[in-house]
Amino acid sequence: MDHDELLRIADAERAKAKPNEIRCCTSSGCRASGSADVLKQLKASVAANGLNDTLTAVGVGCPGLCSAGPVVMSHPDGGMFGKVTAEQAKGIVAALSGGATDAQRIDPNQPFFRKQFRVVRATAGQIDPERIESYIAVGGYEGLYQALQKRPDEIVTDVTASGLRGRGGAGYPTGLKWATVEKMPPGQKYVICNGDEGDPGAFMDRSVMEDAPHQVLEGMAIAAYAVGANQGFIYVRAEYPLAIERLQAAITQATKAGLLGANIFQTPFEFKVEIRIGAGAFVCGEETALIASVQGLRGTPRPRPPYPAESGLWDRPTLINNVETFATIPAISRNGAAWFAAIGTDRSKGTKIFSLTGKVKNAGLVEVPMGTTLRAVVEELGGGTADGKAVKAVQTGGPSGGCIPASLLDTPIDYESLGKIGSIMGSGGMIVMDDTDRMPEVARFFMEFCADESCGKCVPCRVGTVQLHGLLTKLVERKATRHDLDTLVELCQLVRDTSLCGLGQSAPNPVLSTIRYFAAEYEALLQPEEFARPPRASVIPLSVV
Ligand SMILES: Cc1cc2nc3c(=O)[nH]c(=O)nc-3n(C[C@H](O)[C@H](O)[C@H](O)COP(=O)(O)O)c2cc1C
Ligand code: SF4
Ligand code: FES
Repeated sequence: MDHDELLRIADAERAKAKPNEIRCCTSSGCRASGSADVLKQLKASVAANGLNDTLTAVGVGCPGLCSAGPVVMSHPDGGMFGKVTAEQAKGIVAALSGGATDAQRIDPNQPFFRKQFRVVRATAGQIDPERIESYIAVGGYEGLYQALQKRPDEIVTDVTASGLRGRGGAGYPTGLKWATVEKMPPGQKYVICNGDEGDPGAFMDRSVMEDAPHQVLEGMAIAAYAVGANQGFIYVRAEYPLAIERLQAAITQATKAGLLGANIFQTPFEFKVEIRIGAGAFVCGEETALIASVQGLRGTPRPRPPYPAESGLWDRPTLINNVETFATIPAISRNGAAWFAAIGTDRSKGTKIFSLTGKVKNAGLVEVPMGTTLRAVVEELGGGTADGKAVKAVQTGGPSGGCIPASLLDTPIDYESLGKIGSIMGSGGMIVMDDTDRMPEVARFFMEFCADESCGKCVPCRVGTVQLHGLLTKLVERKATRHDLDTLVELCQLVRDTSLCGLGQSAPNPVLSTIRYFAAEYEALLQPEEFARPPRASVIPLSVV
């Protein structure tokens, strides 16, 4: 494959397109509510009405409004339908020629769509994730071609200048990580894409892998060229079968097209990608545990340093980035570092995808520029709560994150601002709660998750999370004393400060943040005679990691 051929494929695909398209979301959320049957019926109706010359029915990736699934869209007129049944398919096809349909219409101009700024999910809902030509027709693999025209160190400089920070949770500067791997002596190096995504309520990475598998591969290939790697692995949990299927198909297609493998774009650059399937342990998302798992070892974290960038997979320098991080790279390569750096805030550049769930009206995937307020996401895009109740809190960052009270909803979403108020950006889970949610119960839920998922390697986490869960249970069951509440806080601090990896270090976050903002709910659960005693001075919780 050379550049001319890439352009030829793009032209041919665009020329082939019919004047009208009916697009049916075939991603996991809509599949679960029957979109495969809807698509089948749409195709049958197009054929039955003799419209094959002017109209195609195609499967596309998730347009975002998953709570309205199965979602069907008509292009180019911008029509949108939600909760579509297979029986309604015929009517939707008829509606395109002025007929009637009883399918529920969705307003494509509502804030949920209008207020998003889509960089990573730019093509979701528009292209067929199962065909490489569909991706190439919208500029796919152009970013890789552009990157291969530069020296590897120039790409690292670009990524550094873009200000991109890792989307897997910690927000580590991506350019700095790439520079570390690039500067390691030549020899075998690896690239790993972290698609483990174990946070309850999070499905951003799943959607990127399902909807834009070639974009992930393109980002990985650019990274591999920049750091000098020739082998990549994508680590995906077994619970994501559609993501695995589409990634595997994308690897096969890209290899056949010469966009993976040897002599990519007729250069000496060679890059192969394989998938590794995880068994669903949350801790296997931690980079050193993930690396152990890829090597076929038990997935437990090890102390760092050495960091994977210096000594990772099979002790070789390894670049490990999150799915969304890699999927951002092609756009930076195509549009330039300055373009990306102009989006977002001073220290948090670009956009971030959130999976907006919980008591929110519009549940699904939103991508917004960094710096957008929580209120805008929850109230404008999300439409507030489904039944009009007041929003009580928003939980960001999953089990490692914190609960933010409604009074702080004007906080801009960026790494520093969320940290200051006791939460974290995390990988993008955002759970909306209303006044029927009890914060000690929320904290208990996350602690149970952490205790279950603790790998057991270090005592503070293995024993501490179980003890913390026990204390929270005692509280929720109104059997706790003031002494128990004090012990809860002390133990949180101990587990946070002495655990080996991020799982244990951050497990106390939901507890500490809910005590910080909803202390009265904890106090109200204490046994009556304990209520009047003041807390021990040593245990005022102030910060989270
Ligand atoms: C318990 C635990 C689970 C994690 N799970 C994930 C995950 O599912 N996906 C991910 O990208 N990063 C996860 N991370 C962070 C990774 O260790 C690593 O920092 C990340 O993959 C680096 O990519 P980035 O720089 O692009 O963010 C997890 C960390 C911890 C401590
Ligand atoms: S903190 Fe928890 S998950 Fe991490 S190594 Fe220790 S026991 Fe395992
Ligand atoms: S999965 Fe179909 S709209 Fe999200």
